[in-house]
Amino acid sequence: MSLSVKHLLGIKELQKQDIDSIFQTADNFKQVLQRPIKKVPALRDTTVANIFFENSTRTRISFELAEKRLSADVVNFSASGSSVSKGETLIDTVNNILAMKVDMVVMRHSASGAPWFLANHIDASIINAGDGVNEHPTQALLDAFSMREKLGDLKGKRIAIIGDIMHSRVALSNIYCLNKLGAEVMVAGPPTLIPKHIEELGVKVTYDVKKALQWCEVANVLRIQLERQHKPLFSTLREYALYYGVNKQMLDSLEKEIVVMHPGPINRGVELSSDAADSSQSIILDQVENGVAIRMAVIYLLSGKRDIVE
Ligand code: CP
Repeated sequence: MSLSVKHLLGIKELQKQDIDSIFQTADNFKQVLQRPIKKVPALRDTTVANIFFENSTRTRISFELAEKRLSADVVNFSASGSSVSKGETLIDTVNNILAMKVDMVVMRHSASGAPWFLANHIDASIINAGDGVNEHPTQALLDAFSMREKLGDLKGKRIAIIGDIMHSRVALSNIYCLNKLGAEVMVAGPPTLIPKHIEELGVKVTYDVKKALQWCEVANVLRIQLERQHKPLFSTLREYALYYGVNKQMLDSLEKEIVVMHPGPINRGVELSSDAADSSQSIILDQVENGVAIRMAVIYLLSGKRDIVE
């Protein structure tokens, strides 16, 4: 198995066959992660640099664990405390890291398109760990993988993505991924947080969160990204929670039991109440667990190594 791409920049560039290969490989790695020794020698002699120009908890730790479970050598770089503050450019920073014989780069950057820019200037494979408001491909893959675990084949399944669609790279990558897998997608939230013409991506739109919950089998609730909102797009967080937040009472009022997801970090009590986030319908921590297997699969397949997976 191999991928049709050299880098994982976005889901947009992937074929359905690539996603199937990643899921099949992640299934194998998930079994490895249940064993007492959760490690395979597949990436021995490979060095991966995790280069984070933006904050992260889940993604950074998940990539580092995935690399270590594959026996790769790992270096971590955070922009804060580095020579970026002295005016060094992105290409100089990365070329200096690559000069130390690094084979693969995992990068998060606040600028949309930064991984594509870098891919035109360096030879090493790049994995996008989130670029601005554009894409977060491994999050979408782990989300779809987690949905597939609960629902089976996603073809024809109804997935609602609820919240700050406008500023969310998770939303865009999820839409691309779910479309490729044949799922139906609805986005829901306030009109000010849903991009105009998003229907052109093949999704349904509603500004009524209850309607989205009644329609869907899975609700993927997204964080309100206040750090990317440079003008007020709703009155108060309290008002947002009242009109667009998802809570347990709403889930209980549905005629069916839907699956609740959130990529994290959660603004508890804003887009998602604690009783919904911590309910038996929530698979939020399963998403985090699956993230390691999915990232192991992506790194392994991009590395071109053909050693053991079992
Ligand atoms: N889901 C996600 O990207 O979380 P972090 O920002 O903590 O990595």
